[in-house]
Amino acid sequence: MMDTRQVIEEYLSSDDFRLALSPPESEPLRQYYFIGLLRRWVHTREEALGRSLYACTNTFGCQMNARDSEKMEGVLTAAGFVPTEKEEEVDLIIYNTCTVRENANTRVYGRLGYLNSLKKKHPDLLIALCGCMMQEAHVVEKIRKSYRFVDIVFGTHNVHKFAELIWERISGGCMVVDIWDRADRIVEDLPASRKYFFKSGVNISFGCNNFCSYCIVPYVRGRERSRAPEDILAEVRRLASDGVVEIMLLGQNVNSYGKDLAEPMSFAELLRRVSEVEGIERIRFMTSHPKDLSQELIDAMAALPKVCRHLHLPVQSGSSRILEKMNRRYTKEQYLDLVHRLKAAVPDISLTTDIIVGFPGETEEDFLETMDVVRQVCYDSCYTFIYSKRTGTPAASMPDQVPEDVIKDRFDRLLALVGECSAKRTAMHLGETVPVLVEEVNDHDSHMVTGRMDNNLLVHFPAGSRLIGQIVPVRLTECRGFYYIGELVLEK
Ligand code: 5AD
Ligand code: SF4
Repeated sequence: MMDTRQVIEEYLSSDDFRLALSPPESEPLRQYYFIGLLRRWVHTREEALGRSLYACTNTFGCQMNARDSEKMEGVLTAAGFVPTEKEEEVDLIIYNTCTVRENANTRVYGRLGYLNSLKKKHPDLLIALCGCMMQEAHVVEKIRKSYRFVDIVFGTHNVHKFAELIWERISGGCMVVDIWDRADRIVEDLPASRKYFFKSGVNISFGCNNFCSYCIVPYVRGRERSRAPEDILAEVRRLASDGVVEIMLLGQNVNSYGKDLAEPMSFAELLRRVSEVEGIERIRFMTSHPKDLSQELIDAMAALPKVCRHLHLPVQSGSSRILEKMNRRYTKEQYLDLVHRLKAAVPDISLTTDIIVGFPGETEEDFLETMDVVRQVCYDSCYTFIYSKRTGTPAASMPDQVPEDVIKDRFDRLLALVGECSAKRTAMHLGETVPVLVEEVNDHDSHMVTGRMDNNLLVHFPAGSRLIGQIVPVRLTECRGFYYIGELVLEK
């Protein structure tokens, strides 16, 4: 596997780049070419201003967006921009948006007002909007009409074109809008930065074929496309040689990984192959659709020690009647059976879930079924959402939308139960000595560090920053609700 950075450097110092009058047709070479042009431009601007050029990325939504943002940051860094979190001092700002629920959209429109005022003070500021929200025609229409100060708008299918789009904007001078309605291929080998040097997300598939009736994701992220296993493994090997010990395999539905490949491969098989990569010590994955979670995967989780004993298994509702309307394609009984098989195979497995409250037509009885599932499974933690109507999805036109006050009451009851379960599950580990991956110096006390157990629980304990990135044994001495205080166990 080539080292992307090295390949970019080689390309930019070669005659190919110097002599090219027009950009290469093939990817990723084409983007390296634009990174090269941007690098010259950044350099000229730096000389004129007598300072570096700064870029800031704001990410909304899920792990897929977080990974896309790292890819864009990789391009910006290769082009010579310096990353910053301070929006006031930036030269380029990106909003990577989410549209899974209405409030995510509202927040972006709110931020646009603020960006307008920033741009008035700093007219050279470049503003880029991308992500799921931009895949909706009505959003792009509104930005074109009412937010003329935005510079670049692109979607989820052409993130790889980021360098080219920035170049188009600075060389063309007007708003650049480039939205694709689907992806024609997966572009490999572009640069990506990492928030943490010791852990990283790795995309294994893009898009979703499930069309759950409330969900906008299949419309904005397109049909499911799996990455070739050799590309995934090459990336994991490269990350491992770069010091990464924990990886998170990412897909909208990892359990259906590989079904669309010319030579199909199961997700369990992919996990086995990834497990063989030396240097990788922990493997996580997200998200699992219950309908596609095979016994083969359960067995693989039980057999592979590097696979974390944590599974995020969204249930969405405990009522078989609502699950059918949601087009989830499993019943309450099938879900509970899956949970029993998981707990039998991996006894200390930590389970987390997503639940939607107030789906159209949800009655008190339906809601009580959800409460029953939460009680029976006793999740380690739950992400609870109030149903949000997404235009264009089948659920948006279903009758019997549930009144707000009823939803609020159910939501509060659910939160209380979820809290009880989490507290019970968290407390179980008191006194144990567990491996903890140290992630950062504690926010509140610089003599402490914060790390994660393999079940994803946080532990704070006294130690120095040199442990960051290492997996060390920690005794859990005090449970504080949803996290632990511990002490480092020194090996004899
Ligand atoms: N309303 C509320 N929650 C939603 N989710 C997806 N679509 C909606 C919606 N329209 C939740 C689901 C999913 C999580 C990522 O977001 O629970 O698992
Ligand atoms: Fe949305 Fe369902 Fe696909 Fe998840 S599986 S992204 S909830 S359509």
